[in-house]
Amino acid sequence: MTHVVRPDRRYHPAYLEAVDEMAGAHRDGDGEWEQSPDDATGFAGYRFTREGLEDPAEFARLVRTRRAEELPETPRPSGRVPCTYLWIVDEEDQYVGSISLRHELTDFLLEQGGHIGYYVRPSARQQGHAGTALRQTLEMAHEMGLERVLITCDEDNAASRAVIEGAGGEYEDSRAGKRRYWVPTPPSDQPFGVRLV
Ligand SMILES: CC(C)(COP(=O)(O)OP(=O)(O)OC[C@H]1O[C@@H](n2cnc3c(N)ncnc32)[C@H](O)[C@@H]1OP(=O)(O)O)[C@@H](O)C(=O)NCCC(=O)NCCS
Repeated sequence: MTHVVRPDRRYHPAYLEAVDEMAGAHRDGDGEWEQSPDDATGFAGYRFTREGLEDPAEFARLVRTRRAEELPETPRPSGRVPCTYLWIVDEEDQYVGSISLRHELTDFLLEQGGHIGYYVRPSARQQGHAGTALRQTLEMAHEMGLERVLITCDEDNAASRAVIEGAGGEYEDSRAGKRRYWVPTPPSDQPFGVRLV
């Protein structure tokens, strides 16, 4: 069954396959590969490239970077908030996409970005991966103390709209071409919360 996991080195080949399959299209929820340093916050900046990520050591650096981004103490650019990055894997433990949960809203996120972003690689779409990953991420948000989260999508993104509405999203309004939904976060049905492998 589909589930979300913390970024891990074992997904190296499938992660790169998915990146290639996206052919440069935006991988919502996967984070950026390049961030400039910010002296104001002590953030050193980072840069990853497709070629560089062939190297297992460089891929491990990406994994470490993503895992650190949820910790409040990790330096980050001004205006950025802690964010939990999760990878979506299928029943065969293969990477199929990413989903991320921003822990709080900035003015920009409240207007446009929302709490959660996600993508699924084209060859794995329409199999329920995004819907399942979103439900699990909503449970994590609940454990984090968020009773509802904001999720937005482009007006013409029928697939994402179906995913959000399928999770119980209530449409609030549209701002600058983005449909804004508030989605309630259900408690986990697992005894000790969402189990991350
Ligand atoms: C949006 C996205 C993540 C959906 O991933 P997915 O794994 O295919 O989603 P699911 O299989 O869970 O599909 C969920 C629903 O979307 C529906 N759906 C999928 N593609 C659709 C389409 N092109 N038009 C209408 N509905 C569609 C499915 O029928 C399903 O509805 P149902 O649960 O009522 O049957 C994927 O299309 C994607 O990565 N898109 C590009 C990135 C993106 O748009 N991210 C979201 C930014 S807000």
